[in-house]
Amino acid sequence: MSAPTLIDGKKTAESVLAECEAEIADLKSKGVTPGLAVVLVGADPASTFYVRSKSKMCEKLGIHSVKLELPAETTQDELLKVIDDLNNDPAVHGILVQSPPPAHIDEAAIIAEIDPAKDVDGFHPVNVAKLALEDASGFVPCTPAGCQRLLTEYGIETEGANVVVLGRSMIVGKPMALLMMAKGKGANSTVTVAHSRTKDLEAVTREADILIAAIGKPEFVKAGGVKDGAVVIDVGINRVDDASQKKGYRIVGDVAFDEVAPKCKAITPVPGGVGPMTIAMLMANTVKACKQITG
Ligand code: GUN
Repeated sequence: MSAPTLIDGKKTAESVLAECEAEIADLKSKGVTPGLAVVLVGADPASTFYVRSKSKMCEKLGIHSVKLELPAETTQDELLKVIDDLNNDPAVHGILVQSPPPAHIDEAAIIAEIDPAKDVDGFHPVNVAKLALEDASGFVPCTPAGCQRLLTEYGIETEGANVVVLGRSMIVGKPMALLMMAKGKGANSTVTVAHSRTKDLEAVTREADILIAAIGKPEFVKAGGVKDGAVVIDVGINRVDDASQKKGYRIVGDVAFDEVAPKCKAITPVPGGVGPMTIAMLMANTVKACKQITG
């Protein structure tokens, strides 16, 4: 087979961000500045990195950024109060609480407290329902939205395609499945959701014209689980120990890239695939929230 197309998430994210910049300029000309608040409880290194990347991107685009890094001991009530204050802050149009919070926090209750109009993660039950109802006024979770944008950007036919979503998380798997089975461009697919309890998992993933791997296990998808000519979207961002690296680890996806890529029509690399899209779609959701709230 010929070499696969490498789906470039960095380049695609740049086009999404350029669209955001144009919309931000338009809002500012009307005296409105979009604002995003990112809240982190505790100091998990990966979460700290993501939260800081999100704030930095806001600053780069001219989005008003509120970054709250709260101690791990923050109580449920204190966090609810933080959310209420942000709900009532007119300079903030988007609110995101980095997941996962520490174990003593009831995450579902925190998400439910966020004003759905400011829920740029798309995790609030109102926005989950809007995705299922195909109501475009809702917010689609950033990572699935980014995966879909990669498919449309690269002209990958989704209509009638067998899409297998590997993973059933609230953040990626479930919303991804809803997006791909919806009516419309970049969707209209026949969707199967597979996960760690699926029987004969490789036989299921091997049916995929488009395989979206979001199971959170390093290099889990091997060549035997992929059809010849498939399109593979790798959502995984996993740290694996590697003494040869300065940091002592390297980042790998959920797909064993070296053995899977030669079978593919197209595949996302890790890093540089889905990762940059998540943050770009967050910026796009923040602009959308601002427009809906102020418009
Ligand atoms: N943790 C991993 N991905 C995400 C995300 O998209 N949003 C939030 N809030 N937390 C995450």
